[in-house]
Amino acid sequence: MVNPLESERSCSILVVDDDEMLREILAVMLEAEGYQVEMASGGEEALELFEHRPFEVVVSDIQMTPVGGLETLRRLRLLDPEVAVILMTAFSTVESAVSALRDGAYDYIVKPLDDDEVRVTVRNALRQRLLWRENQQLRRVLRDRFDFDNIIGKSPSMHRVFALVRKVSRSLANVLISGPSGTGKELIANAIHFNSPRSHHPLVAINCSAIPDSLFESEMFGHVKGAFTGAVTSSKGVFEQANGGTLFLDEIGDLSLFCQAKLLRAIQQGEIRPVGSPKAVDVDVRILSATNKELESEVLAGRFREDLYYRLNVVNIQLPRLAHRREDIGVLAYHFLERYGAQAEGRVHRISRDAMKLLLSYRWPGDVRQLENIIERAAILAEGDSVEVEDLPDLLRTQGTRPRTPDLSQTPVQLDEVVRQYEVDLILQALSRSNGNISKASELLGVNRRTLSSRIQRYGIEVPAGLTIV
Ligand SMILES: Nc1ncnc2c1ncn2[C@@H]1O[C@H](COP(=O)(O)OP(=O)(O)OP(=O)(O)O)[C@@H](O)[C@H]1O
Ligand SMILES: [Mg+2]
Repeated sequence: MVNPLESERSCSILVVDDDEMLREILAVMLEAEGYQVEMASGGEEALELFEHRPFEVVVSDIQMTPVGGLETLRRLRLLDPEVAVILMTAFSTVESAVSALRDGAYDYIVKPLDDDEVRVTVRNALRQRLLWRENQQLRRVLRDRFDFDNIIGKSPSMHRVFALVRKVSRSLANVLISGPSGTGKELIANAIHFNSPRSHHPLVAINCSAIPDSLFESEMFGHVKGAFTGAVTSSKGVFEQANGGTLFLDEIGDLSLFCQAKLLRAIQQGEIRPVGSPKAVDVDVRILSATNKELESEVLAGRFREDLYYRLNVVNIQLPRLAHRREDIGVLAYHFLERYGAQAEGRVHRISRDAMKLLLSYRWPGDVRQLENIIERAAILAEGDSVEVEDLPDLLRTQGTRPRTPDLSQTPVQLDEVVRQYEVDLILQALSRSNGNISKASELLGVNRRTLSSRIQRYGIEVPAGLTIV
């Protein structure tokens, strides 16, 4: 991203005045500051020039004939609503300059001109204009990133999710997005906001699991100066920051019952009261929330308020595990390879058949996030233009891959030995998943504790490094 203040110098300025001498003096002065300057002798000429090439800032006299400064301002803003127009005015017309501020002029300077005042006013106008432009660029990047096209999936379950996301984006209903970690909940929340009628308003995200009860109200609703020790200035809470836009409450399932009650009140009443303030503030926010917990079971267990659950869960979007939509693994892997492979030296743009087989047979406990990380890493490690098996982490080979059934047309087998290997592999996996806890491991394998212990002994299984059997 270009630093707006660095690119300031290459900006173009249009000076408009029917007084030739004044025009020249101003132009020379601004050129000396490093700007590109053009001149026009009146409003008509200014508008003509502007139509051919936009200027960042226009410095225009008010009193000109036949098209005066105020009319020029009005018509310039029709061409570019964000153009910064600085009006020059004689003392006698200051009043009309002041009223022009309401019509969108950036500022005015009074004649006779003071050089420093001109420089400072122009510089400030440029900064504002460049920051605005940078802001637009950032928004565009965000919008592209969260465009529906960047949410990948061709499985029927993801198609259902997409259809729902499109529908809820058009509405202002509160949406609860649930699904295991790494399935794309945050991505979906962003896509909903950036494709909603509120996309031009803020999206404010807050991680509920990271706020202690004692700070909850101040984080959510803000506080006034002096409300508590340490509140040296007043501060807006996330509700107010998101006013008119969207509030994304991430990890909502981790909110304590105390905080749930406070949140519910704010949502029900549509107003909040900053800590220490006697006055309530109206807020209008759309709430998206996400959780990797089964919120319904949390309600049944009494850990999540039912009334709050219904407020947040007007529409529920449930994201499926990657392991349950295997047809998405390939398209996602290529999607990430396009992103990371292009950055890698030499451009990696293929995934070998064997590498893809491995990706397809893995269980993906870390879901899409894990797949993304693995492809990013593989794009760095790959030697040629394609990702090979050795560019993928060992974990994909050892965990979760089913030992391939031997092909008897190639070679005969020892049935007992093949079965033994199969068992050893599963027992090792279970031990490592359960951190060496035999009871848990035996549950994973569907046998009782005694059976598992005796097989460990019979097969002489060595406990993996770092684990102790308990
Ligand atoms: N369908 C998808 N298409 C493209 N990228 C995806 C998809 N799903 C997830 N991702 C990517 O995977 C990563 C993890 O997604 P995200 O952070 O949204 O997951 P999450 O469900 O919020 O996880 P957690 O519960 O751990 O916070 C992100 O980089 C996201 O862009
Ligand atoms: Mg998340």
